[in-house]
Amino acid sequence: MTIAESSPAGAGASTRNPVLEARRLVKTFGRVVGLDGVSLQLYPGEVLAVIGDNGAGKSTLIKCLTGAYIPDEGQLLLDGQEVHFKRPQDARAAGIETVYQNLAVSPALDVASNLFLGRERRRPGVLGSVFRALDTAGMRKDARAEVQRLGISTLQDVTVPVENLSGGQRQAVAVARAAAFGSKVVILDEPTAALGVRESNMVLELIERLREHGVPVILISHNMPHVFQVADRIHIQRLGKRAATITPQSHSMTDAVAIMTGAATA
Ligand SMILES: Nc1ncnc2c1ncn2[C@@H]1O[C@H](COP(=O)(O)OP(=O)(O)OP(=O)(O)O)[C@@H](O)[C@H]1O
Ligand SMILES: [Mg+2]
Repeated sequence: MTIAESSPAGAGASTRNPVLEARRLVKTFGRVVGLDGVSLQLYPGEVLAVIGDNGAGKSTLIKCLTGAYIPDEGQLLLDGQEVHFKRPQDARAAGIETVYQNLAVSPALDVASNLFLGRERRRPGVLGSVFRALDTAGMRKDARAEVQRLGISTLQDVTVPVENLSGGQRQAVAVARAAAFGSKVVILDEPTAALGVRESNMVLELIERLREHGVPVILISHNMPHVFQVADRIHIQRLGKRAATITPQSHSMTDAVAIMTGAATA
């Protein structure tokens, strides 16, 4: 095994090709510059955190990666091929799954239905094709397998309506949904912002589980301890630009905050 192979994603990253890459993205809103030539690389099997002060361009950057915004300039590459997403469905179809903080799950539906939301499976034959009957049993079976594969022990019963779950369990359902269906990239926007300590830990464990399964994750967070706990590398946005990309080994939390606020450079 070479050194690059044996080292964590952060250290070996530069020797490999990114799964997802943004090159010099520009996005303006009238006179406001949201992104000013931002590049980002996401390598296989890594957790990349994106941090930055309010208005630094984190959400704009993520929206450009997920088809919610079309950048004015710059390139987006998935597995080395240039892609042009016109709408979020395009990014999703290409394997980029995003979990937004609030509209993550449908409370009235059960866990299994949430996992298959927007991808419902029909019964075989005329029952499915003509009468649109759902393959509930099949979806529940696969939902159980997926929940087990991700080791989400807190979700015991996939037939429970999501409104009966705790906040952390709901977030777990949303992350599981993003991780299912062979996603290439999972993007999480502030997944622990509204959660307690135990629930946050559950979501952080789930992020680590995704990495173990080889799924790279982009994590947007204001929570420095969480970022430093799970991230392999940290992309720091400041005033619409990438100020630096650091690692938890190369810099302290204090250093990261100093770069974020402009008190220091990397
Ligand atoms: N749809 C929009 N119309 C006009 N201006 C926008 C729009 N979206 C973002 N902006 C501006 O672009 C800049 C970057 O905003 P963005 O939402 O990306 O910041 P952020 O880093 O996500 O901040 P926060 O931590 O507060 O969520 C801000 O100046 C913001 O006002
Ligand atoms: Mg934002």
